[in-house]
Amino acid sequence: MKILLLTHAFNSLSQRLHIELKQRGHRVSVEFDINDAVTAQAVDKFQPELIVAPFLKRAIPESIWRHHTCLIVHPGIKGDRGPSALDWAILNGEPEWGVTVLQANAEMDAGDIWASINFPMRDASKASLYRNEVTEAALRGVLQAVDNMEQPGFVPEPLDYDRTDVKGRLRPLMQQADRRIDWQRDDSATVLRKIRSADGFPGVCDWIFGQEVMLYDAHPTEGLSGEPGALLGHSGQAICRATVDGAVWIGHLRDKNGAHPFKLPATQVLHHLLADLPEINAGYSDIRYEERGRVGYLHFPFYNGAMSTDQCQRLREAYCAARQRDTRVIVLMGGPDFWSNGIHLNTIEAAESPADESWANINAINDLAREIITTGSHLTVSALQGNAGAGGVFLARAADYVWARGGVVLNPHYKDMGNLYGSEYWTYLLPKRVGAERARLITQARLPMGTGEGCELGLLDDYFGGDNRQFLDQLQQRATALAEDADFDRLLADKVATREADEREKPLDEYRREELERMNLNFYGFDPSYHVARYNFVYKVAKSRTPITIAQHRDITRRAEDDWSQAS
Ligand code: COA
Repeated sequence: MKILLLTHAFNSLSQRLHIELKQRGHRVSVEFDINDAVTAQAVDKFQPELIVAPFLKRAIPESIWRHHTCLIVHPGIKGDRGPSALDWAILNGEPEWGVTVLQANAEMDAGDIWASINFPMRDASKASLYRNEVTEAALRGVLQAVDNMEQPGFVPEPLDYDRTDVKGRLRPLMQQADRRIDWQRDDSATVLRKIRSADGFPGVCDWIFGQEVMLYDAHPTEGLSGEPGALLGHSGQAICRATVDGAVWIGHLRDKNGAHPFKLPATQVLHHLLADLPEINAGYSDIRYEERGRVGYLHFPFYNGAMSTDQCQRLREAYCAARQRDTRVIVLMGGPDFWSNGIHLNTIEAAESPADESWANINAINDLAREIITTGSHLTVSALQGNAGAGGVFLARAADYVWARGGVVLNPHYKDMGNLYGSEYWTYLLPKRVGAERARLITQARLPMGTGEGCELGLLDDYFGGDNRQFLDQLQQRATALAEDADFDRLLADKVATREADEREKPLDEYRREELERMNLNFYGFDPSYHVARYNFVYKVAKSRTPITIAQHRDITRRAEDDWSQAS
């Protein structure tokens, strides 16, 4: 079937649908919802049999939904309507939520229902629920709807509030007033719900010592309390604020009126206050190590998967410490939502010299990658619970094995960031696993990749488990089995021998030098593309057109091929 994904942005959910629909043999093209004329042009060029809208901020024009079946993915249960579906579900503490696939018509979110999938809610941020439960339910719903499309005589269900299974209702856009924190009254659970309902967007607006900031990345604390609303101290990158029954950690802030009005670590935004705040020892940490049997698990749930210079350096130290332990396998866990998205573009943007900070950050991530690649004492595994992008994918590949949760999305390319060349020893790691020609295709295609394709190409070694729980259970069994493998010594010896042979053929330093020579041009050269692309990314400048890599219908060569194959 020819399916057009009409979307505000090619976000994680749209990328997942793109992967899964293509894998099932559908022809999928993408158009960003820029304006009605552009949408009409896309529909005219592509002539889709179905239009799916995974993430829209405006209504589909009537001229389109009247003549084409347009299915909207709404992140709400049957009958739920409005632009703040998940926000309300989190704030109201709904035990169960869902995704409904409904047909576009004149009334927003009130069209006939093609599929509706519910899931149990989890204590997590809106973005985390969106990337996990919502994405899985949306995929199931869209696949069901596509099947229904192919059934002659299928009639979608009209929205009828008299039905007992229609439990949602129309809710307005959530305002800041709806989730404003009352530090004198709200308990920790309420504060967490309020912040999570707005995380990643728009954040909860709050005041800290007279400074207006948006709050993100909230976590519970243990054993900390104080005067409600008081800042108790800082730990790592987070600040700790007291509630009526304890306290919460807040890891990220956005000072929308400041010089850098984008998300940054809380301690960076409030650096001028830190001298007066106590440091809380053994408080909040974004790196955690645990051991089970002869396996060490290194967790690094960095917010949004972005790895700053400081985080890379601390992670490298933690990795080196893990390597000193009497274990056999080290599992690099990343975080539950992302494994890694490479260097931290926000802290780079906020630096006095973004070029210097880019240089420091790429060198810090390379130092980490090098430690992993040259580990001779352990077998290493990258365990991708969540998505990985750009340098994050290649950093994962630095380990001996890369195992992913089924459904994880990889973006193994750098070029979208202003033609960034990339480093992390990718010129060694990628061709070694997938071959030179495939390496070239992967990095040039700039397309998201699913776990199936990742395994076929050799970028991943395996994938398993449909959700995080299943993935973690199986991961532990597999990592333990690897550590106890009767052949462990031989596996380790083979790995060391291969590394030595590779080093003789071409030293790692040489790969790094060549990559950094190109990166140096990206950071310091005449072409400002990387700096412009990073600015646009960090400031979320809306894209003015859909990249040709995903807008098949705008790719003249491909259309000519299609016309030819249809004619012959
Ligand atoms: N640095 C800082 N923030 C990053 C980041 C990075 N490297 N990668 C992602 N983020 C942030 C985004 O700004 C976004 O922030 P928000 O919470 O304010 O919305 C959030 O993480 C989620 O990213 P988003 O782009 O919405 O997710 P996605 O699933 O749609 O796309 C990627 C995933 C990886 C394709 C996309 O995030 C990306 O291109 N990231 C940049 C990768 C990169 O070029 N890294 C540097 C070179 S190594």
